[in-house]
Parts: sequence; C-alpha cells; structure tokens
Amino acid sequence: MNILFLGDLVGENSFYFLKKNLKNICRKYNISFVIVNAENVSNGYGITPKISDEIFKTGVDVISSGNHIWDQKEIIPYIAKNNNLLKPNNLSKELVGNGYFLATNNQNKKILVINLMCNLFMRKSDNLFSSIDEIMKKFKLKKNCDAIIIDLHGEAASEKQAFANYLDGKVTAVIGTHTHVPSSDLRILPNGTGYQTDTGMCGDYDSVIGGDKNKWIENFVKKPGFQKIFPAAINNTLCGVIIKVFEDTGLSSVVKQLILGDLLENKIPNEKLFL
Ligand SMILES: [Fe+2]
Repeated sequence: MNILFLGDLVGENSFYFLKKNLKNICRKYNISFVIVNAENVSNGYGITPKISDEIFKTGVDVISSGNHIWDQKEIIPYIAKNNNLLKPNNLSKELVGNGYFLATNNQNKKILVINLMCNLFMRKSDNLFSSIDEIMKKFKLKKNCDAIIIDLHGEAASEKQAFANYLDGKVTAVIGTHTHVPSSDLRILPNGTGYQTDTGMCGDYDSVIGGDKNKWIENFVKKPGFQKIFPAAINNTLCGVIIKVFEDTGLSSVVKQLILGDLLENKIPNEKLFL
C-alpha cells in the first residue's frame, strides 16, 4: 500500500494546483490513500466547510490541521459531523472534532491517521506524549490497523525528533507540518518508522511561509502589533511524501519526498519504487 501525505495547503490557489495534479500523482505512484494538511487553505486562516468538501471530492481521504483549525467559525458544526477532518488530538479537548480517524481505503486496508500539536514555541496544547500514549492503548499495527500515520504539527525540530523516536517501530510514519519549509531529513528510523521534521507547504514559495512577503517584512520591521497577512498566490508548489507500507509489519518500506511545481528544486521519485 502506498500513501501520499501533503503538507499545509496555503490559500485557495494551492487547492486548485492540488486538484490539477492529484489524479496523475495517484496514478503514477499507485497511491491508495491521501492525507493533506489544510489548516491554512481558506485565505491563510483555517478551512471552511465548502473548501473542505471540495478537497474531499478531489480524492483526499483525510484532512489534518493544526493551530488554525478554529479560524473559520463555521467549521465547528462541520467538524462535529465529518470524522475525516481532524483537529489536533491534544488541542481544545472541550470542543467538538476528532484528533484521529480510522479510515478504510478501497483495498480494504485500515489506516489510522492521528493529528497532534507540539508545544515548544507554540500556543500550548495538552501534553503531546500523554496524548499519543492514550491513543496507542487502543491501536496496534497489524492487530487492528494496517498503517498508522501521524501529522505532527509543530515548530521545533527537537520536539518533533524526540516524538518520532519515542514511537519508532510502533507507527508507520511521523510527518511534521506547520513550519511550511520542507526539511531534508526524510528517512526511516532504526525500528521502521518513517520520519520527516517538516514536509513543507503546498503554496507559493516566493513569500514568507506562504504569506505576502512585503506584509511580513512590515510586520517585523515597521509596524507595531501584527497585521493580518494573506497568501502569496502567483507560484504553485506541492510538497509532501510518498510512503510505501510493508504488508506484514505496517512499518515504512520506502519513503520519498515529492516536490512538484515552481521555485523549489523539484523532487520526483522513481515510480518503480512504488510498484
Ligand atoms: Fe500551523
């Protein structure tokens, strides 16, 4: 089984670029499950029900999120009804929405997708490690699921690496999101868990983390306070990872970075690795 994980969609433009390319990517790499982080898709701030529906219609199976999940208030009743749009499991426990979802793909494989938030240099969430311990009491690879993929939404590489090593051998992959910068450390850890500190955003890289670069400069240099910044929307790049899962263990067999589009050096894996 091959799984595609794409990093944070920033702005509606990133969604249209995803829509244009997703079918071809899935066909080329024999993908049977797609996860996308889309917490910045609605003009940089959260996600609306309408665009969430459109993302699911393009063939995405699970949408994960992060600190911006509640930016669009109308998402609250929607997330209560749609189990495949995730909020971070350790964020705002008192609010509706699921932090993990056990999905079944068209090959009848069960894929557990978990969404969690880091705490270093971020708005505080419940303890990351206690939160995953609670979930892992209920799930075990090849006992009640065929793959476990974690979207770890956070700022600091140290926290993400500690978390991934904590789970090494117990989950298929831990993929970082939130910084909007793809890191070059995608690898399989010694006990079989795929890991990347951050998979990067899907958006315009002629920007500051996807937002209008001039507004960001003003925010840092000139203006006191913090003005709202909207996405840059000229160039398009998709960033993510393709994961081949071992049938017998549910751990990672092959992990390859995918970068497709403008400005960044493209990384197009050999499809023969995913036969
Ligand atoms: Fe974020």
